[in-house]
Amino acid sequence: MYSTEFQKIIDFRRSNRKFDPSIPVPSEVIQKSLERATLSPNSSNMQLWEFYWVRSEKLKKEFVPYCLNQSAAKTAQELVVFVTRRDLWSKRAKWNYNKIKESTEGQDQSLIKGGLDYYSKAIPLVYMRDPFGFMGIVRRLICFFMGIRKPFVRLGGNAEQRITVQKSCALAAQTFMLSIAAEGFHSCPMEGFDKYRVKRALGLPWGAEINMIIAVGKGTEEGIWGPRFRVPNEEVIFEV
Ligand SMILES: Cc1cc2nc3c(=O)[nH]c(=O)nc-3n(C[C@H](O)[C@H](O)[C@H](O)COP(=O)(O)O)c2cc1C
Repeated sequence: MYSTEFQKIIDFRRSNRKFDPSIPVPSEVIQKSLERATLSPNSSNMQLWEFYWVRSEKLKKEFVPYCLNQSAAKTAQELVVFVTRRDLWSKRAKWNYNKIKESTEGQDQSLIKGGLDYYSKAIPLVYMRDPFGFMGIVRRLICFFMGIRKPFVRLGGNAEQRITVQKSCALAAQTFMLSIAAEGFHSCPMEGFDKYRVKRALGLPWGAEINMIIAVGKGTEEGIWGPRFRVPNEEVIFEV
């Protein structure tokens, strides 16, 4: 339906490392793209993410060395930090629970009960943590026994929880970048940064993690470092 337009956006989006200083990015473009990012698929609709649009010029300057003086950060017209908030799981579970409760009218009662149980029983089991990692062991044991006779989700500890929130946040970052491309601007995702300094600059709590920082602007030809090449399709796409 939108295949041709989508292909154009995919082709247009390149990681651009040098932005034109004379062309600002309208605020609406960033705002709209961030709002589109919130519509990204995410694990259990928990939305354990936050997007920090760095608007203060002082902070933007501070971020250049935090991003290891990368040219994308130096020349960025706008910077957005994508952050995971695994620590907000309880708040977001309650939010989902209440949303389901609010929308009961005319809805299938068994679906509602399933939803309420999911956010009050299953989600705490997935996200609950303790300082010694006992919950991770409990989760693994439950999954092991439940999985003996039939397929069962394999939950784990710290690493699995982090992967879950990072996956969803990266999808939001991708929606953001595609939206920026659709608006005729360019972006560069960055994982080359000092996560401790970035966290401190944003005043983030211990449970937050930086997913990536995205530089945005009007890209230049020098900002494209070479042709776009990918390993052959046969090496990565399989029909099984
Ligand atoms: C998670 C992630 C981190 C990245 N970090 C950086 C980075 O720190 N600096 C940079 O110049 N490019 C970075 N990139 C951009 C990649 O190098 C780029 O996407 C890749 O070479 C493919 O090129 P393309 O985006 O133009 O298709 C990153 C990309 C991703 C997805």
